[in-house]
Amino acid sequence: MRAVGFRVVFLSSECEPWAKTGGLADVVDALARAIGGLADDAIDGQVDVFLPRYRGVPDPRPDAVLAETTIPVPDPRARTGSSDVTIIDVAADGYRLRLVDHPPAFDRAGYYGDTAGDYADNAWRFGLYVRASLEALRAEGRPVDVLHAHDWQAGPAGIFRDGSYRDDPIVGQAALVTTLHNLAYHGWTWNADLPQLGLRPGDQAPGQNADGIDLLAAGIEAAEIVNTVSPTYAREALTPEIGMGLDGLLRSKGDRFFGILNGLDNALWDPADDPALAAVYSRGDRAGKGVSRADLLTRNEMDPVDRGPVIGMIGRLDPQKGFDLLAEATPALLERGARLVVQGAGDPALADPFRELASASPDKVAFIERFDRDMARRIYAGADFFVMPSRFEPSGQGQMIAMRYGTPPIVRRTGGLADTVVDITRQPGSGTGFVFEGATTEALLAACDRAFELRATGGMVWDRLIDRVMAVDFDWSTGPAPRYIEAYKRAVAIRRSTP
Ligand code: GLC
Repeated sequence: MRAVGFRVVFLSSECEPWAKTGGLADVVDALARAIGGLADDAIDGQVDVFLPRYRGVPDPRPDAVLAETTIPVPDPRARTGSSDVTIIDVAADGYRLRLVDHPPAFDRAGYYGDTAGDYADNAWRFGLYVRASLEALRAEGRPVDVLHAHDWQAGPAGIFRDGSYRDDPIVGQAALVTTLHNLAYHGWTWNADLPQLGLRPGDQAPGQNADGIDLLAAGIEAAEIVNTVSPTYAREALTPEIGMGLDGLLRSKGDRFFGILNGLDNALWDPADDPALAAVYSRGDRAGKGVSRADLLTRNEMDPVDRGPVIGMIGRLDPQKGFDLLAEATPALLERGARLVVQGAGDPALADPFRELASASPDKVAFIERFDRDMARRIYAGADFFVMPSRFEPSGQGQMIAMRYGTPPIVRRTGGLADTVVDITRQPGSGTGFVFEGATTEALLAACDRAFELRATGGMVWDRLIDRVMAVDFDWSTGPAPRYIEAYKRAVAIRRSTP
């Protein structure tokens, strides 16, 4: 028995500020820091976060590089059966980042694919990434209590731990916790491609069916504990509509599958300390919010004085997020005197309607078709409302940031949105936003109408809403991080009692 607490190791394909396409990156960064910050008898110091070194990952400052080690890693594609992979250890903000560097796998245009679609060798790429991470842990020889795998890209951890490393004293002992940030992406691998993972026909592995392996299912099946990122999404995931083919497997986990609502890093997202804003502000003194609004509008070539409602939306351009619903509602919103500032990158088909709307009404619709960290902050602060008409939403982060910045959210009642926003019409004394049910333009518009009306009424009702919105505290360290520690403890207990 060791006197110190658990050692926790994250496997994640994204991590802010190194590599990000969506909320996963923010969550992994903030959670790793929060867990390390709670280190006591439960947790052994800082978390290790393994991340592929994609093209575009910024070079760490030389004084932050802790070590650089090249290790041989079993590689089913290498003629010798093994490839050299370099692990670059970096002192990150509150955790140890471990970049997995193997240019043939990661020095490419995209993380998961390019304009032609997903890379055909993703099973090899992420298999190699996971295996290199596990080999680095073995080479160190320091026990690992919890492997915390995020999404399908880390799913091979289940296959390898329960396969080739089953009897390994480091990897084989570790408990596996799998967090599902999104059930829409599975890392599906056909039988013909199983050699990419070093498997031969006839080999048994978690996540397998007659046609191949679902890497997300592998992560679920092998894990001692599985969670998703909000309680409502966890319930929805057990239904065929939202479960995306995994509802049966998730049901079979029983009480070993549940939701932990994501948090927000209050220090990273703070309108009182945000250099991107034209003026800072706080719950007690909100004057800077008006200045930030005028700045957002001016920067987007819109009239800063016009009092009409300004709607912000930010996200991955993905059918999940409901950008199409907002685009369809836009003509009606403009008729009501509203203006829109929309930021998104991803599917060009979802961008087209906003490009057209912005070129037809440049003084009313701004479309920022790229991932712009500073502009995002200006939208959260400067908009009057923040919309998320998501078809499904495992947690959602935009609504939490918007609330912290005093911008009431307009959201669909689904997943984490349902768990974070209280509808003000239903609960006038405690409401924090405007919640609607159907994934339709009409339902979105009706919620916007309620929002506009309340804002036009102004006075105390509006003031109290903004005050309540800004008072909500999603901080990681008080809420979600301790729940993860509980989950780790359970996972370790289950693992240790497994023969
Ligand atoms: C995915 C989900 C989003 C969640 C994020 C972080 O991007 O779509 O709802 O907030 O992961 O967990």
